[in-house]
Amino acid sequence: QANPTPYDLIGEALLYKLIDVFYENVSHHPELKPIFPEDLTETVRRQKQFMTQYLGGPSLYTEEHGHPMLRARHLPFEITPSRAEAWLSCMRQAMDTVGLAGDIREFYYHRLRLTAQHMINTTDQDE
Ligand code: HEM
Repeated sequence: QANPTPYDLIGEALLYKLIDVFYENVSHHPELKPIFPEDLTETVRRQKQFMTQYLGGPSLYTEEHGHPMLRARHLPFEITPSRAEAWLSCMRQAMDTVGLAGDIREFYYHRLRLTAQHMINTTDQDE
């Protein structure tokens, strides 16, 4: 392909594996566990749809759920700076586990960091 998208470069198989490992990490993280559902099946399914379109692949999320409105969808949860950092650490760990490396990792992680920053909707307890 002449102009591969980040989605093309990563590939569906690796992206899906990354998301599976990411939520496995989230389910064990003391700061994140309390705000996520116990059964993450549907969360994983939606995140695979979302990340596919976020990385320039087909608009799977929007086709089924409409506009992502990510910040609004996160408002019911207390997203503190510390939780955003925890989310990103679960992602870095998942990237290490599945062996996502190099420029594409840096590009993807940078975008995730900006989006995570944008999701913060409250301060940490002691601030
Ligand atoms: C859903 C937490 C960052 C994308 C959720 C849910 C929680 C959550 C608790 C609801 C899970 C459920 O009920 O199924 C957080 C925290 C973040 C964060 C603590 C830290 C900053 C992000 C980022 C992205 C993202 C950076 C995208 C780049 C999504 C998507 C959903 C979701 C697509 C599913 C929305 C839906 O229900 O359709 N998140 N999130 N989140 N999050 Fe996050």
